[in-house]
Amino acid sequence: MICTVTLNASIDKSYRLAAPLADHTVMRVASCHATAGGKGLNAARAVAACGEEVVASGIVGGHTGQLLLDLLAADGVAGDFVHARGETRTCINVLDPDGGSTEFLEPGEEVTPAEVAAAREKVLELAGRADVVTVNGSIPQGFPLEAYVGLVRDVMATGTPCIVDASGERLARVVEAGPTMVKPNRDEIGQLLGREVRSMDEVATAARELVGRGVGTVVVSLGAEGALMACAEGTWRGRAPRIEVVNPVGSGDTMVGAFAVALARGMEAPERLRFAMACATANCLSPSTGSFDPTVAASLASRTEVERLG
Ligand SMILES: Nc1ncnc2c1ncn2[C@@H]1O[C@H](COP(=O)(O)OP(=O)(O)OP(=O)(O)O)[C@@H](O)[C@H]1O
Ligand SMILES: [Mg+2]
Repeated sequence: MICTVTLNASIDKSYRLAAPLADHTVMRVASCHATAGGKGLNAARAVAACGEEVVASGIVGGHTGQLLLDLLAADGVAGDFVHARGETRTCINVLDPDGGSTEFLEPGEEVTPAEVAAAREKVLELAGRADVVTVNGSIPQGFPLEAYVGLVRDVMATGTPCIVDASGERLARVVEAGPTMVKPNRDEIGQLLGREVRSMDEVATAARELVGRGVGTVVVSLGAEGALMACAEGTWRGRAPRIEVVNPVGSGDTMVGAFAVALARGMEAPERLRFAMACATANCLSPSTGSFDPTVAASLASRTEVERLG
């Protein structure tokens, strides 16, 4: 079983407009769609798409939290969350007819120290019976950074591999916990190291630097350019096949879910990269976030090139 952890879940609503968004007027929404949102939930859908057992965990609250659980169940994903007093937030993505989008992200309600402690207990209980744990995305207000780093450290102490997808200060601090794997994109690793990470040499140097600081595997995702992976066994560069993108949102999250599957299945390092990249590219070909056709992913895997760099 793979457990994904979403501490700052949301209901993601998309509003499709018939005319471009304008200021200070009434806008009529042509169609709207709600999904169980948050990076860990995208990763959980990806694990389910791979055909592996998954339990999505984290924190949800109130009526919106219940709606999130219902939407998740409709996606075929089991949930085991801590129920907080504050309502789960809603994030709205307004889609213009010309393809532009404007996002409104609610701040979310503050969680209490008791809810933080309950989340830790829940995740550690699940980690005890999981093959891999993934910790994805941001943390709600009231969830101390120390507690977040401690959570990853505690999961690692159970002996269950822990993959972390984080950015900014959370990524900087979580490196101290020595996670099994982190998956920054080019901007996120650049921000972490405080320098431009542009060329493939710079990406490789940056990834190896984090391995040197105690992270097991560093995968830097590079959008259409593919990804680079560094770990104790070596460094590999993956090239994604050229495709007509349908919806790239959540490709990084899909990659994290698929890496968890690859680890659970005991694949060798370069095959893990190929498998996870193919699933992420398959996500780009599907309109929904984190869901994809595994037969499409299998055919993309045979067109995904993985080359050893060192
Ligand atoms: N246009 C594309 N063509 C082929 N593969 C793609 C494309 N965009 C993304 N991918 C695949 O998805 C992986 C992850 O994408 P990306 O680097 O955009 O992640 P990200 O920035 O973390 O995204 P997010 O956080 O929104 O999920 C890439 O490494 C690649 O394998
Ligand atoms: Mg990402």
